[in-house]
Amino acid sequence: CGIVAYVGTRQAYPFIIKGLKRLEYRGYDSSGVALIENSELNIYKKKGKVSDLEGILAGKELKANIGIGHTRWATHGEPNDRNAHPHYSNSKKLAIIHNGIIENYATLKQNLLNKGHVFQSDTDTEILIHFIEDIQKETGEPLEAAVRIALKEIVGAYAIVVLSVENPTQLIAARKGSPLVIGIGENEFFFASDATPIIEYTKDVVYLDDYEVAVVRDGKLTIQNLDNLETVPYIQKLEMELEAIEKGGYDHFMIKEIFEQPRSIADSMRGRLRAEDAHLQLGGLEAYLDKLAETERIVIVACGTSWHAGLVAEYLFEELARINVEVEYASEFRYRNPVIGENDIVIAISQSGETADTLAAIELAKSKGAIIFGVCNVVGSSIARATHAGAYTHAGPEIGVASTKAFTAQVTVLTLMAIATARRKGAIQEETYGHLLTELECIPSKVTQVFENATRIKEIAFIFTYARNFIYLGRGLNFPVALEGALKLKEISYIHAEGYPAAEMKHGPIALIDEDMPVVFLATKDSSYEKIVSNIQEVKARKGRVIAIITEGDTLIPPMVDFVIEVPATHEILTPLLSVIPLQLLSYYVAVMRGRNVDQPRNLAKSVTVE
Ligand code: G6P
Repeated sequence: CGIVAYVGTRQAYPFIIKGLKRLEYRGYDSSGVALIENSELNIYKKKGKVSDLEGILAGKELKANIGIGHTRWATHGEPNDRNAHPHYSNSKKLAIIHNGIIENYATLKQNLLNKGHVFQSDTDTEILIHFIEDIQKETGEPLEAAVRIALKEIVGAYAIVVLSVENPTQLIAARKGSPLVIGIGENEFFFASDATPIIEYTKDVVYLDDYEVAVVRDGKLTIQNLDNLETVPYIQKLEMELEAIEKGGYDHFMIKEIFEQPRSIADSMRGRLRAEDAHLQLGGLEAYLDKLAETERIVIVACGTSWHAGLVAEYLFEELARINVEVEYASEFRYRNPVIGENDIVIAISQSGETADTLAAIELAKSKGAIIFGVCNVVGSSIARATHAGAYTHAGPEIGVASTKAFTAQVTVLTLMAIATARRKGAIQEETYGHLLTELECIPSKVTQVFENATRIKEIAFIFTYARNFIYLGRGLNFPVALEGALKLKEISYIHAEGYPAAEMKHGPIALIDEDMPVVFLATKDSSYEKIVSNIQEVKARKGRVIAIITEGDTLIPPMVDFVIEVPATHEILTPLLSVIPLQLLSYYVAVMRGRNVDQPRNLAKSVTVE
């Protein structure tokens, strides 16, 4: 979910509605705002996109200098007007927006029902605001104290902002596990789940920490912890520029982000890599390189696309540094009784740095004594802060829900980590080392070369627009790329797609192959090239329609298959950075041709702060 709030001297509604649109990538099944207009608390909510809410409010005079807004990704209660946030208390004097999940809501609800509270929605959030009001009534404490007391009882994760009609210059916010940023202007304060709604107005921000409660009242910000101890707000300068979060002439963020990859890959290497004098430096991670080189096991935890980047890293660390790597879904790892301890190194990969399962996996591994490294895109995010050290991917803000440039930036950074570790360990020959660095520097321009095939890819997308299924096959480093290609297609076009190791096909998926089945082969010239050629023939023999991603200049595969898309040659280890690009474009064009909402596919959210 995304939350925004404003208190100050300007009109709150325009900021809130624009902010909600910027945060829509976090969830978009319903949205709402609460404003204090002429001393009255008015709440407007609507199922659907933020533009649906804007539609019902068009033409209304919404005059308020304080307000809160929310765009939802449903956890408790189906998406409808009633369950949309903000929610209000029994007396209708308090309103709340909430991102996260309250796990003990059922017990709290029962107690409140016994006391005669009446609920309007099926959400856990509504319980919280009733609970706060109940505490306020019973203890006679001011609102911020009641918020603190309530939060101490809460099990779960939250970022909240509370509004009271009795005090139209006051907003109270708190976080645990879900992000919250406060922008500081002149006599005005902006609250949001991330900085994107804020940067237009101010670059001075405070990132709230877990268990902190921020109170803005009469133009002043104070921060306390749940035990009422005051801390001095740490004001940081935002480095993000507005253009980075706007579409800049593209139809969708996703295609803008795909085309940004030459730059985002270069940015992820900038200052770290210089091939001409064989320089490779990983900033904060340098101090840990010995540990990495000595460890016998690396455990990678991640979700979604980041998990696929982890699978690529498994090959890289094994191949280059000869270290045993296990790649875990964070959600599975955290609920097993994993064998992990002081001798292990955990690498957590996350674009947002906020994924709840990944964060929990880190905490678990940390409690067992493991050293944790982060590979995150969002600076200052929860995961970046929870790790011992890390290397940021400098992909810039990624707004399209389907991850593209974050994936290649992750693979880039993980490649640098694997090479640096291999070198420290003495596991890589100088010649290979130098060659890899030179090849890495060429990757951005080779990605640009892949874009020259965009028209061809669009034509292929047109032919397969209405396919019902797709299979993606690859071997070695291209196996995770096959998984990623299938995931991209599923996410945004809603076509069922499966990624498989090419050799495993004969143990099951081959039964699905007929003349209606498009099969995408990752068939670049690498050490498994001949094997994949045989796999292509197995599919062709069963009349499957093959689209092959091949290395430029390959003359063997084109006559065997229906369509080819070329990518430039590179060092085998770096193949995923090129072979994934046509798959991103293919899924994008198919989704556009099917009329899908590419940037905000149904049911998905970019940042999943609930487990
Ligand atoms: C969500 C997003 C995916 C992303 C995954 C992990 O499902 O829709 O694109 O890969 O979360 O997110 P993270 O921010 O941890 O990389």
